[in-house]
Amino acid sequence: MTETNRFKALVVQENADNTFTKSICERDVDELPDNELLIEVHYSSLNFKDAMSASGNKRITQNFPHTPGIDAAGLVVSDKSGTFKVGEQVLVFGYDLGMNTAGGLGQMISIPANWAVSCPATLSLKEAMIYGTGGLTAALCIQKLEKMGAKPSDGPIAVTGATGGVGSMSVAMLKQLSYDVVAFSGKPEKSDYLKALGAREVLHRDTINLVNDKPVGKELWANGIDTLGGDYLANMLKQLKAGGAVASCGLASSPNLSLTVIPFITRGVSLLGVDSVYIPLTDKQHIWHRVATDMKLPQLEQYCEEITLAQTPEYLDRFFQSKVVGRYVVNMRN
Ligand SMILES: NC(=O)c1ccc[n+]([C@@H]2O[C@H](COP(=O)([O-])OP(=O)(O)OC[C@H]3O[C@@H](n4cnc5c(N)ncnc54)[C@H](OP(=O)(O)O)[C@@H]3O)[C@@H](O)[C@H]2O)c1
Repeated sequence: MTETNRFKALVVQENADNTFTKSICERDVDELPDNELLIEVHYSSLNFKDAMSASGNKRITQNFPHTPGIDAAGLVVSDKSGTFKVGEQVLVFGYDLGMNTAGGLGQMISIPANWAVSCPATLSLKEAMIYGTGGLTAALCIQKLEKMGAKPSDGPIAVTGATGGVGSMSVAMLKQLSYDVVAFSGKPEKSDYLKALGAREVLHRDTINLVNDKPVGKELWANGIDTLGGDYLANMLKQLKAGGAVASCGLASSPNLSLTVIPFITRGVSLLGVDSVYIPLTDKQHIWHRVATDMKLPQLEQYCEEITLAQTPEYLDRFFQSKVVGRYVVNMRN
């Protein structure tokens, strides 16, 4: 571990003209909040929410200057709560990290001890960040569908936003669990990539909206994972087979949902909400255990691109340019 109090971090500044600037700055540990657990961050990752925070979205982050980063994996430097040993490998995702608490895109973080979990023995810190919030949200969606009785023999399962962080992890994890995956994407040129991840078929995302003005459509999908919201979610629900369910975790297209109750009362379908941020720590420990065991993906490196802290300003902009493909892991020591 480093012996200096100085560290590097991505800092987002608010300018007088209401624009926001991202740069890599030196900070001091004394500038971090006075919390129980001080962690030296070795890996972080990029998520849609980090891009929103870094762009100055005040629904995510109210006060600037700010360091985003909702994911962090690193070594314990000190723990006033006595929960963790110095040098222990720990993981943090969700709660307020990277929102209004300086986040994982800094080489040091200071957080309440009950935001962290021990890194499972079967995962390295880098592997944990390849999953990150995107992978854990995918795992939580699958787990919620399973609790509703979903199984591979039910038939095809639809995934929207398939090239994104949550979407790509959903495709790969579902395939690993032997599901028949149909991926919806706005990037037809990434079909081969999505098939390599495990999709049997890749459809343009707009094809799911072809039933737009009808209360229900053809029964096509046994279940679904939706990361987009809006018409994509409404129409996925209208196309579920009787008894099916959609796990809804995102709003990359829209936070709105407009549909009738007809799919619910004539087909008995279910809409399942998934939150990865504020679920109890025990639930986070449980899902990390599953991600590290039965849901563990082989050759994890293929699902991510490793970047440096210095590259994060450019890569965060990609989230608003429709350029995101898979997961981005940030090596915080480079
Ligand atoms: N509930 C939770 O706890 C939780 C956790 C993590 C993420 N989320 C949410 O889940 C969503 C996805 O997150 P992520 O990190 O996977 O984001 P991401 O990496 O940016 O992926 C989103 C994907 O959605 C598609 N997309 C983007 N903008 C779109 C638009 N305007 N209309 C239609 N499709 C669009 C693109 O995929 P294609 O080009 O392949 O279509 C894109 O790659 C976000 O809304 C995020 O806030 C929620």
